[in-house]
Formats: sequence, structure tokens, C-alpha cells
Amino acid sequence: MAAMAAGNPFYITTPIFYVNDVPHIGHAYTEVAADVLARWHRQAGDDTWLLTGTDEHGQKILRTAVANDTTPKAWADKLVADAWLPLLKTINIANDDFIRTTDERHETAVVTFLQKLYDDGFIYSGEYEGYYCVGCEEYKQLDDLMETPDCDYAGQQVCKIHGRPVEILQEKNYFFRMSDFQQKLLDLYESNPDFIQTESVRNEIIQFVKQGLDDLSISRSSFDWGIQIPRDHSHVLYVWFDALLNYITAIGYGSDDEQFERRWPAVHVVGKDIARFHAVIWPAMLMAAGLPVPTRVFGHGWLLVGGEKMSKSKLTGIAPSQITDTYGVDAFRYYIMSAISFGSDGSFSWEDLSARYHAELANGFGNLASRVIAMVIKYRDGVVPVAELDPVVYATEQRVTLEADAAIESLAIHEALAAIWQLVDDLNGYITVQEPWALSKDPANAARLDTVLATVVHGLGTLAVLLAPVIPDAAARLWSAIGGLGALADQPIRTAWEWTGGSAVTALETSLFPRIESPEPAVA
Ligand code: MSP
Repeated sequence: MAAMAAGNPFYITTPIFYVNDVPHIGHAYTEVAADVLARWHRQAGDDTWLLTGTDEHGQKILRTAVANDTTPKAWADKLVADAWLPLLKTINIANDDFIRTTDERHETAVVTFLQKLYDDGFIYSGEYEGYYCVGCEEYKQLDDLMETPDCDYAGQQVCKIHGRPVEILQEKNYFFRMSDFQQKLLDLYESNPDFIQTESVRNEIIQFVKQGLDDLSISRSSFDWGIQIPRDHSHVLYVWFDALLNYITAIGYGSDDEQFERRWPAVHVVGKDIARFHAVIWPAMLMAAGLPVPTRVFGHGWLLVGGEKMSKSKLTGIAPSQITDTYGVDAFRYYIMSAISFGSDGSFSWEDLSARYHAELANGFGNLASRVIAMVIKYRDGVVPVAELDPVVYATEQRVTLEADAAIESLAIHEALAAIWQLVDDLNGYITVQEPWALSKDPANAARLDTVLATVVHGLGTLAVLLAPVIPDAAARLWSAIGGLGALADQPIRTAWEWTGGSAVTALETSLFPRIESPEPAVA
């Protein structure tokens, strides 16, 4: 039997998360963004693959494990099982795979990759001395450091990102000939302007590479929690070199050529703080191995609390469940995707969450769904009239679908939502103007009422199809309440307005987004 033709490949990744601590909503932000993009492409029929996972080697994890009186592997196992896998459920991520850098499939393929680079002359041994930030797991240049007036660290050089003192490391290391790739990287950025996004991240990285690239120290001998360097087991691989490789080891690099060819290259969604690793070191590694570079590296902004990046170490981390327990997972997903322009920083506040929840989800969308369904039940016994659709509304359905799809293509998730919300607003406006309750009073208006009801039910169906990637549960409830045929996830999203069916409605047992009296949990 001939295999079904698969759609265009779309492989998207999240960063793999350090398991030194439990997740906060900043981590959930990256996950949800990648998941929305993946769900959209999957629903469009693209051959989609979403990868996420955990980054488990290196000094940071080792130190955390030691501080907790356990081994790094036992610590990682515990955090993955108790925190990182449950996170995916809490925020409803439909990932296709989950890789851990301690997986055997990863470790084996990393050794294959290293051996290839070694054989091809891209790795050599030498001496290195520099400032190292364990928080970043990175050697730092003087530009990356500052002296702080903070009394604890007064007079010391601290990392600008972590605000903690750096350590001076001097080691015999293995090096990757990254300097060989300076011009090739600049050519890549020039010939493919979308390779790094956003524009400001791109400019910063180009500036950085133009200043000159040093070779990269890729091994450590002062501790042993990592993948051993082939033929010299006194060294373990630098954690970033190890971690970046997850994107290809998970899809069969070195073991399953068919899968690898089918998936690679990827779109990488990462926080702007780690864009440099993805847009400099990673493509250089791939070029050295003769592999295609990623399709895109998108550096998104940060969730801020009190003007600073939300972080556990600064005690500003909010657990995703603190929000989902009160507002539900859909509301959380919608809020972080719509309130912050994807690519910019955005401040989180409970007041803003509550205000948007009530204005946009409870009153705007949820109320629209309840009203339309209630009117079809009241005026037509739940049967959706078969009638011409109002062409103006139908044209809006088509327009917003195309606008939203174009926005997703350029990874502007917030713009896609803004486009879809025009339909929510237009349907609400249409009902106000058409006054179905007034039409229902005079049998002479029966045909007009049929058109109005059929039109708004159709608009709701289009909304369900378009919103499924962002608010999967509420969209599925709506789809079933208006009698949508087939699984919602199978409705072609790029032609959402063309859906047909929906001959009868059933009442929603509870509102899609009920009002919430106390916006902030008692213990925040
Ligand atoms: N392990 C590395 C990534 C390796 S990828 C080959 C790492 N892990 S991390 O757990 O520290 O961060 C993972 C992601 O969470 C990064 O993209 C980071 O930008 C993101 N965020 C962490 N705090 C965040 C906010 N406050 N806001 C938005 N994203 C944030 O880096």
C-alpha cells in the first residue's frame, strides 16, 4: 500500500530545561509558544514534530545534587518525574518526544558526533584560563561582567545575568575550532535575514560575531558529571555542546537516517538570553559536521516581575499551577500568548491577568458562545437553521483566517490572536446590530432570523477551529456544543472558514470561561 503523502515538514523545538530547579511560568512560556506553533502546523496538515526535554549534565546540576545530598542522576530523575513531566500536563503540551541528555540514545549519538569532528580536524587540545559563570554554564568576557556595590560580593566581578561572582578556571581542555566559522556565520546571517529573530537579537549577535570568535573550550576535567570525551575519559563534554546536540540526537542522528532526513532542520524557539548559543555555537557545530543549519532561531522576550526577568534564584518564580488552578489551563495559555508580543518582554501581574480574562475570555468569547447557543435553543429548538450565511461575516471569517495564518508563519502568535479576536468582536457587534431577540417577535422575520443564527453559529465554528491550538479544551467543548463533525484537531486550519456541519446545538453545562471572584490565589 502506498504511504499517505505527508505535508510539509515542520520540526520545532523548545530549549531543554535545566533540572536544578522546578519550573516557573517563564519556562512555561517557551513551552506554550512552541506548542501553539506546533498545534497550528499539525492542524494545517504539516508533518509536524515538537521536541522538548531536559538538560541534565554540568556543574550546576552536580552542585545542586551535592547540596541535596544525592547523586546528579537521582536528582535529575526526581525533578523530571516530579516537576518537568507534570509541567507538560499542567499546561497541556502536545509534544511528540521528550529527550533527556542522560538518555542513552543521546549519549551515544553525541559520541558519534564528537568523533566525526575529531576525525575531521575540528577538535584539538590546549590550555584555557578564563572567568566562568556556573549559572550560565559559560566562560565570560570582561564585557559580560560588572563590579557590584552589593555588600555580599563587594569588589568582585559578577555575571551581569546572574548577579553572582564568576570563578577563575584554568584547565587543559579540548577545543572546537569555532574561529574557523566566523565568516561563514556572518554570510549565513546576511544571506538568510530570517535565520535569527527578532531583529534586535539578530543585530546583537551580528555585532558579537563581528568582534571575532575564539575557539571554544568544550571539555572539563575538574568534575565528572557529563558525557566522556571519546579516547580521553578524564574529560567530560562542556554542557552546552552536549545540550545543543539534543536537537539532532532525538531525531535519529547517527542511528536512524530516514527519521533524521525527514525532520531536520528545525525551528528553535528560545529565550533571548540563550539565542547566542543557538545562533553562533550551534550552526558552527553543524557546519563542521557537514549538516544543514537550523531553519530559524527565534529569541523571545522574558516574563518580567517588578521589571526583572522572573527567576527562581531571585525568588520571583510563579509556578504555572498557581495560575491554572484558579483560571484553568486554557486561560493561562491564552493570556501569555496574547498579552505579550512574541519577541518582546512583558510584565506579569495578577491584575492584568484577571482584567484580560474577564474582558476577553469570559465576556468577549465565552459569553458569545453561551448567548448564540442559548438563542438557537430558544428560537429554533436547538436546530441550526439551513440558511444563506451573511456574506460580510463570512468574508471576515476568511480574512482573519488568512491574517492569522500569515502571522503564525512569521511566528507572531500575538498578532494571530489579535486577528482572530476581530471575529469575536465582529460577531458580538453583529448580534447587537441584528437583534435576534427582536427578529424573533415577528414571524415575518423568520428567514432573516435563520440567516442571523446560521451566520453566528458558523462564526463560532470558525473560532473553534482557529483557537484550537491556543485553548484546546475550550475550543473542543465549543466544537462539540455546536455539533461540529469529526475531531476538532482534524479541521484544516488554513481554510478554517470553510468548515461545514453543525446541524444542532447542545447547551454548554458551564460557561467556557466562568467569572472568577478572587483573581489572586490566597497564597501567591
Ligand atoms: N538548559 C539551557 C537550554 C539548553 S537548550 C540546548 C537553559 N535552560 S533554562 O532552564 O535555564 O531555561 C530554559 C528556557 O526558559 C530559556 O529559553 C529561557 O530563556 C527561558 N526562561 C527562563 N526564565 C524566563 C522568563 N522569566 N521569561 C521567559 N523565558 C524564560 O537555558
